[in-house]
Amino acid sequence: MTMDKKFYITTPLYYVNAEPHIGHSYTTIAADILARRMRRSLGAGRVWFLTGTDEHGQKIQRAAAQAGIEPQAFADGIARKFKDLWADLGISYDDFIRTTEERHKQFVRRVLEIVYQKGDIYQSTYEGWYCSPCESFWTEEQAVDKLCPDCRRPVEHIAEQNFFFRLSKYQDWLISYIEEHPDFVRPVIRRNEVLSFLRQNTLTDLCISRPKERLSWGIPLPFSPGHVTYVWFDALINYISAVGEFDADGVYRSKWWPADVQLMAKDILRQHAIYWPIMLRALGIEPPHSLLVHGWWLINDAKMSKSRGNVVAPLDMSKKYGVDVYRYFLVREVPFGLDGNFSEEAIVKRFNGDLANDLGNLVFRTLTMVEKYYNGNVPAVDIGAYRFDERGAEIVRLIGGIDGLMEQSLSPAQDANFSAALEQLWGLINMANKYVEETKPWNLAKESKDEQLRAFMRLLVEVIRTAGSLIEPFMPGTARSIKEQLGRDTIAKGAPLFPRIETDGKKRTEKK
Ligand code: MSP
Repeated sequence: MTMDKKFYITTPLYYVNAEPHIGHSYTTIAADILARRMRRSLGAGRVWFLTGTDEHGQKIQRAAAQAGIEPQAFADGIARKFKDLWADLGISYDDFIRTTEERHKQFVRRVLEIVYQKGDIYQSTYEGWYCSPCESFWTEEQAVDKLCPDCRRPVEHIAEQNFFFRLSKYQDWLISYIEEHPDFVRPVIRRNEVLSFLRQNTLTDLCISRPKERLSWGIPLPFSPGHVTYVWFDALINYISAVGEFDADGVYRSKWWPADVQLMAKDILRQHAIYWPIMLRALGIEPPHSLLVHGWWLINDAKMSKSRGNVVAPLDMSKKYGVDVYRYFLVREVPFGLDGNFSEEAIVKRFNGDLANDLGNLVFRTLTMVEKYYNGNVPAVDIGAYRFDERGAEIVRLIGGIDGLMEQSLSPAQDANFSAALEQLWGLINMANKYVEETKPWNLAKESKDEQLRAFMRLLVEVIRTAGSLIEPFMPGTARSIKEQLGRDTIAKGAPLFPRIETDGKKRTEKK
């Protein structure tokens, strides 16, 4: 049972071993923008936006032990922080799934049973070099001189009974699937990466269990209670456990699956482009339509991480500059698939340029003039029928076409090019600003060119109405404010939307 037209979008489930940083907020904001956009075109009831937290496994068990509390209590605390952050950032998710929830655990057990019965999970010996302080397994090649590549302490050879998932059986199928579905992995550079990996390597089966003595914080295997499920095998399943169920015959039923867009950064591409479609295949479930893979936010060219101590807290940024400014900055500054360096100077530059000078200025000067010339009553002019000069006519055309242009840029086939979509919108905003400067409406007023001034003012109002509406997925608060200031027929001008920031970091209120 699937709907004709629907849109199901997911973010990765974030680990709860540490607090959220700007990287997590980036993916989630991107998903929110696409979800909000699709709700406008398909209707709210046809969009499902899933996010959540990944709570099992060694990382979390270890972080909880360090904090001296039980893993569940530790996970509860961090999951709460993610939820609070999403509320502060205006994230309109429809469901937040935690992998420690009963609904998910039950579903994972069912998956394991189905795949086990099918013969795609088997028991075997797992051998490797183990670093007990790091609790990590290494291969022969990684453990050079029998030392842990991370901490340089001696590793020990371990052989233990585990369960394996037959990835290898599906390798050829996966290669053909990716070849035949150009939109399955986007952008194309990531698709090529996966394809060349698959063509050059023979997949080894995936060890999907851990003996309980070594790791207790996980979902016990239904057919071997002495083992818990490997965290990736558990976590990936959330995308289907949250939106459907198996019937008595093991057939998966969902109103939303297959996902239309699954977002993530390149760090977890392999799990999503290899393990995940194969797991689905073993279950007889269709793969998602598109995995949309973005780049990393870096700090001085290094990836943010807790151990490097270079983590930027999203809430600090959104409090300092405003939620909408933060949202805008992240998706405007760097094309979606690429890496970018995060800096506050860059935020201030975008703020003063795109937001204060361009958008804020257009809204403020337009409403000021409507107040001044027409007591706040927007002139009733049909801009489609009025004969404008060349630039005016171009603006009218753009008002009609801009939504479609942005729609295209944001599609998975264009790799959800947020910055291009915003550039298109800013093309309209800047053209309108230029039109003000060229037309010099104050002269029209002086010369009593009333018909021209009325049409001109109406056109500007239509530009900000359009911009205000199309900016909504990106900057919901700003969109609301523009809408309120525009009122119905009588405008209600407020303070400038983006008072310029002086470079000492303080905000200054524009002179009226
Ligand atoms: N728990 C796994 C995912 C399981 S999905 C079934 C995981 N969690 S994570 O907390 O490490 O989140 C990784 C994801 O967070 C990245 O793929 C990306 O979406 C986002 N980001 C984390 N750091 C990032 C940057 N520095 N820059 C951009 N996005 C980043 O992996």
